[in-house]
Amino acid sequence: MSNGKNKKIEFGDWQTPPELTKKICQLLFEHNIFPSSVIEPTCGRGSFILSAIETFPSVKYYLGTDISEQYLADTTEKISPFTKKMDIKIIQADFFTFSWDKQLESMPEPILVIGNPPWVTNSGLGSIGGKNLPQKLNFQNHKGLDAITGKGNFDISESIIITMLENLRGHDAYLAMLCKTSVARKILSYSHKNHLSFDLCKIYNIDSKKYFDVAVDACLLCVHLKKQHQPIQCEIYNDLSDKYSILASFKKGRFIANLQLYEKWKHLFGDEKTSLRWRSGIKHDCAKIMELHKSHDDYYKNALNEEIQLEDDYLFPMLKSSDLANGEIKTINRYMLVPQSFVGEPTDRIKNRAPKTWQYIQQNEKLLDKRTSVIYKNNPKFSIFGVGDYTFSDWKIAISGFYKSIRFRLVGPYEGKPVVFDDTCYFLSCKSEEQAKAIYDLLSTDAVKEFYSAYIWWDAKRPITLEILNMLSINKLADFFGKDNNYTGFENSKLCNKQEQLTMF
Ligand SMILES: C[S@@+](CC[C@H](N)C(=O)[O-])C[C@H]1O[C@@H](n2cnc3c(N)ncnc32)[C@H](O)[C@@H]1O
Repeated sequence: MSNGKNKKIEFGDWQTPPELTKKICQLLFEHNIFPSSVIEPTCGRGSFILSAIETFPSVKYYLGTDISEQYLADTTEKISPFTKKMDIKIIQADFFTFSWDKQLESMPEPILVIGNPPWVTNSGLGSIGGKNLPQKLNFQNHKGLDAITGKGNFDISESIIITMLENLRGHDAYLAMLCKTSVARKILSYSHKNHLSFDLCKIYNIDSKKYFDVAVDACLLCVHLKKQHQPIQCEIYNDLSDKYSILASFKKGRFIANLQLYEKWKHLFGDEKTSLRWRSGIKHDCAKIMELHKSHDDYYKNALNEEIQLEDDYLFPMLKSSDLANGEIKTINRYMLVPQSFVGEPTDRIKNRAPKTWQYIQQNEKLLDKRTSVIYKNNPKFSIFGVGDYTFSDWKIAISGFYKSIRFRLVGPYEGKPVVFDDTCYFLSCKSEEQAKAIYDLLSTDAVKEFYSAYIWWDAKRPITLEILNMLSINKLADFFGKDNNYTGFENSKLCNKQEQLTMF
């Protein structure tokens, strides 16, 4: 740990401004939360403790802990006017080694745990050489594939809040803590799986730009623990003063973003195996070489600014997320090199069919071989993923996984060739223009927007996922709107044959 900036990152050191801590304490008071003890486990400069002192006359005992000696000195000075009248302890402690269970035994209830634990991930710590981690490194025991896909990455605040909730089991206790909204959802998913019950569960979104000058979706997570088991129902508010909430809850293990819309449209849910499935665009992990712009005639330019002459056999017009999000698509000038027509297809056949293309990928062998993802191991050289018959159908309906709206695009062939997508997009491959237009009309209805809004968490990095898109049964949707098979052209696509299932990615 060399510099002050890294130190700030390692210890997630964004102190909460008193304006916000006051608002939060006031809100809790207005909700009839009258604690007898208050704990601030990462109290920093003590804004939460001071606001709690000003707000809750019911409190008999305060405990503030933090790892930073300097901050504790600040806090001790700030609270000195109150220490004669009140039982306040400010202790230097590392959250991860402190005996919370013993501490809680002696505290008058109800207990309120309040604060703002550090906003940093374990991989963020790794990149700056930080060591501020819980002892159990593989927190929540993520293994194998999860570790590869990044699920083993967690926020320090996630481990602090879950550790606190586990210690609070069996106590009459509230927890009100600021964290990223993605972290709040992970904590509630953990609580659902591990039977932590709450009779009050609220998420208030907060303006992190205004209070912390950072662009992160953050919230106040507020719960009251309950001894008897009860399913989690969480009220979600747009901000601390919002009076209206959206109810979120767990259904079949999934955290549903909008329970009301879920109940309204759950009859359209379907996971039947049809060939009309949403697919991811092509994954190649080498845009520098695989994505090209047309220069003139059969000359193309890659991102290294090299001009190359290529046959058009393996080149397809391509669209990215940003193309799908921006208005009508009139012209396409980007092309993708698609060296395989199905996953695992030998690539050496390119040599005879398209010698210039073969020479180009051979010349860039090093960059392509450098792709680190395990999926490329034990597969033919220059392999790509997310490719199959469905890639080459002329008519498709596509959507970006990154954008914050449910906006489908009808995409037909361009210059006589099917359009392909990169792996930030999802698409439905249709059998004909007629079928594509019919399904596009169905997908453009408010019913579909509402159906998906039940499942989508808009603050997620990639809010729209393949899993969510495939939850909607297009057959049931067509039935709902009284459209028959002739209209949608479904009869040929209802059941996929075994071969197709085998090649599905
Ligand atoms: C986001 S700041 C919040 C400070 C304070 N809670 C507030 O709201 O203003 C996080 C605090 O966590 C403290 N911290 C970081 N790692 C800690 C650890 N392992 N144990 C205890 N405190 C820690 C930092 O020193 C810092 O003061």
